[in-house]
Amino acid sequence: MAIATLFAKEGAKVCISGRRQEIIEKAVVELRQSGADAMGVNCDVSEIEQVNGMVEKTIAQFGKLDILVNNAGVYIGHDAVSATEEEWDKVVSIDLKGVWLCSKTVLPHMITQGKGKIINVASIAGLVGFAGSAFYCAAKGAVINLTREMALDYALKNININVIAPGVIDTDMTKPFLEDEQAKKGFLATTPLGKIGKPEDIGWGAVYLASDESDFVTGHTLVIDGGWVAK
Ligand SMILES: NC(=O)c1ccc[n+]([C@@H]2O[C@H](COP(=O)([O-])OP(=O)(O)OC[C@H]3O[C@@H](n4cnc5c(N)ncnc54)[C@H](O)[C@@H]3O)[C@@H](O)[C@H]2O)c1
Repeated sequence: MAIATLFAKEGAKVCISGRRQEIIEKAVVELRQSGADAMGVNCDVSEIEQVNGMVEKTIAQFGKLDILVNNAGVYIGHDAVSATEEEWDKVVSIDLKGVWLCSKTVLPHMITQGKGKIINVASIAGLVGFAGSAFYCAAKGAVINLTREMALDYALKNININVIAPGVIDTDMTKPFLEDEQAKKGFLATTPLGKIGKPEDIGWGAVYLASDESDFVTGHTLVIDGGWVAK
């Protein structure tokens, strides 16, 4: 929601998407109350037909699609032995295949327009190994390299494709860890800036990568992690 809110503040028309209708509706109401031109579409990013529907509805409403943010993701923490095949399929189909399906669907429109920005949200778990997070690390690492590859394919089409690698950010995903005082202390101790990131920290990175100011940036991994991977 922080990314959508900041995009709206910067003047973008925003389509917010996810699988839970009540959350989408609440987000759209909030965005509209703040003066944004916003819409919502229920979509599972791992299902190509739903992704097609989301993109068609967005273009029908706004007339074009300039920016895609692939932010949907799930985390399941397991090592390679304890992980199940079902869990692997879930994480890989949302965190990795979802990025590809949304990009595949949006890219032809951007190519026709002659301009576009795609921002994928991976993780520092895609840059280094995080014990007990086997397929999350695998999927996020693949998103980072898929980003580099797609950036090359569409560079001469004037489409910039970059990836943000967040560190620990205070969201629903990290709530279970951050509510555990010991775990929170551990994150604070291992983060050089000594604090947990806010969703807006990622949002401002996405605003930059969506803006004309980043027109010479593509295939880049923007690490926003309080210095975590600098150690
Ligand atoms: N919070 C962190 O510390 C952190 C760190 C690194 C990377 N990330 C990444 O940031 C992104 C956003 O995560 P978050 O922290 O806001 O977590 P979150 O759980 O609050 O948000 C994830 C969102 O993805 C949506 N989603 C899940 N499966 C989906 C599907 N199949 N189709 C469509 N939407 C789906 C959820 O509905 C939810 O809105 C994720 O890709 C996550 O992996 C988060």
